[in-house]
Amino acid sequence: MPEGAAINEMFSGIAGRYDCANHLLSFGQDYGWRRVLTKMVKQRAPQDVVDLATGSGDVAFALRQRLGPSVNLTGMDFCQPMLDEAIRKQAQRQPVTNIRFAQGDCMALPLEDASADAITISFGVRNFEDRQRGFSEMLRVLRPGGAVYILEFSQPYSWFRPFYYLYLKAILPLIAGIATGKKDAYQYLAGSIESFPARPELSAQLKEAGFAEVKATALTFGIVAIHEAVKAR
Ligand SMILES: C[S@@+](CC[C@H](N)C(=O)[O-])C[C@H]1O[C@@H](n2cnc3c(N)ncnc32)[C@H](O)[C@@H]1O
Repeated sequence: MPEGAAINEMFSGIAGRYDCANHLLSFGQDYGWRRVLTKMVKQRAPQDVVDLATGSGDVAFALRQRLGPSVNLTGMDFCQPMLDEAIRKQAQRQPVTNIRFAQGDCMALPLEDASADAITISFGVRNFEDRQRGFSEMLRVLRPGGAVYILEFSQPYSWFRPFYYLYLKAILPLIAGIATGKKDAYQYLAGSIESFPARPELSAQLKEAGFAEVKATALTFGIVAIHEAVKAR
């Protein structure tokens, strides 16, 4: 698994152009993935929500829109330049979205035990230095009956695999290199996606970490998935 400091440095290098590259390289699919994610979170009627690895804040903004103004919302990331983007975007939004953006490492979250009803993390878990430690931290911070929603790349349906990996390995780094000037970051992306566990394995890892129930939902031919993992009451 990647080293946290190297990941932090890599995101610092692309922070200013992250959003643009994200929408471009996912062909705008990221908007739809966030819509599904926020709908699932709303079903839990949470009062305190944390978006981990919030980056430039798009999931946090989508949560605010879906959940309304009365929900307490925190966006947390260990990379200050990515958080600066989120803070800059929040300042431009009207009406102001009232999200608390704060620095924090998912390996040791600066959050109280049992202080959140729902945690979201989108395209962050794949970069964890120690996945089990990250899951334990989420479990600690959740209230009993609360849930974590992990939106992450997954393994696509088998018929789609050849096209997808051709795109990821040959085409995406080229386009991303032009859009961000950092081709290496996107070569890392392809490798990290290929070695990331498929839905049954990730579900098993979440159970191993202590979550009581886990449900995986595949989206866009399985290239991404949302794992909903519930802490026992
Ligand atoms: C691919 S971006 C995703 C940003 C946002 N969630 C989204 O969906 O657009 C990954 C983010 O995870 C953050 N990250 C990775 N490992 C982290 C950790 N251990 N603690 C906190 N943030 C982390 C990075 O700094 C980066 O901002």
